[in-house]
Amino acid sequence: MSLVNYMDIPAVAPDSIHSNVRKEWLSNRRKLEALRFNKVSEKAKATGRFTLLDHLIPYLTAGLKTIGIYDRGYKNALNISLKQHELYFDNLPQSFDGYKILHISDPHIDCLPGLEHVICRMIAALEYDMCVFTGDYRLGSYGAYGAQVVQPLSQIAQAIHARDGIYATLGNHDTHQAVEALEEMGMTVLTNETTYIKRGSEQLIITGTDDPYAYYTNKMAETLRTQETGFKIALIHSPELYKEAAENQYSLYLCGHTHAGQVCLPSGAPLISHLNKGKHLVSNFWKEGNMLGYTSAGCGTSGLPIRFNCRGEIALFTLRKK
Ligand SMILES: [Fe+2]
Repeated sequence: MSLVNYMDIPAVAPDSIHSNVRKEWLSNRRKLEALRFNKVSEKAKATGRFTLLDHLIPYLTAGLKTIGIYDRGYKNALNISLKQHELYFDNLPQSFDGYKILHISDPHIDCLPGLEHVICRMIAALEYDMCVFTGDYRLGSYGAYGAQVVQPLSQIAQAIHARDGIYATLGNHDTHQAVEALEEMGMTVLTNETTYIKRGSEQLIITGTDDPYAYYTNKMAETLRTQETGFKIALIHSPELYKEAAENQYSLYLCGHTHAGQVCLPSGAPLISHLNKGKHLVSNFWKEGNMLGYTSAGCGTSGLPIRFNCRGEIALFTLRKK
């Protein structure tokens, strides 16, 4: 079944591997990438990663151009919005009342030329404490990032000024080779890892897992099962670990992946969710138990550089103590 011998895929440079957790993740991720099939659970049969839609892209592009709406879709895609939300929590530590998180998801930066300039202009005047990326930085799905990804993505990273840094998780379009590139841009990639933002004796607990849409392993749920108590935030590419996070007392779950449909009906209803489970979590805010979740519409596009009835976005959250 394997199309590629995973030993042929170059490993991330050793000095970018921080811990045994990272080494274990790397070993598993390389094997899964070599299969070139979605891994949606430990038990479920893997399904082919390429969908009918991938094969239809050239025909769809030609069709949209013929009927004269391709350019409008492209213009729509570059017209992203800044969404600002105040989020109230009973259990937020007092020191973090007013804490601001900039959330950027799914740039697919080489799919939409010029998007990096739109993003840099949008965030230039913003103030925030931490920036988080929730995956899918490029259009392709295999191999290392090329200059067409690294250059514009670096431009965005350089435009981000966050006191507590930039944290990133991988999506289904990002291979293990992305980690080194992203960390060279100044991001801290969380691959089934947890980090802490401290203010005196209080802290935010930030957990990032690998992508559950295509690269599921039980290690993700295990990582979310941290015994530590406090205000816990999950950064995960797709919403599909919502039950595991809620069961483990996470307060906030930030994700993307769905593009909120990208091409929607005039009512805003998406034609495709690209979710294996949790299809009701395709966009915007949602609740699971006591946990608040947010599925970003993403700032980029995948497949075709177009959007209809579905605006891309960057979000700025202000955490408030209730
Ligand atoms: Fe994705």
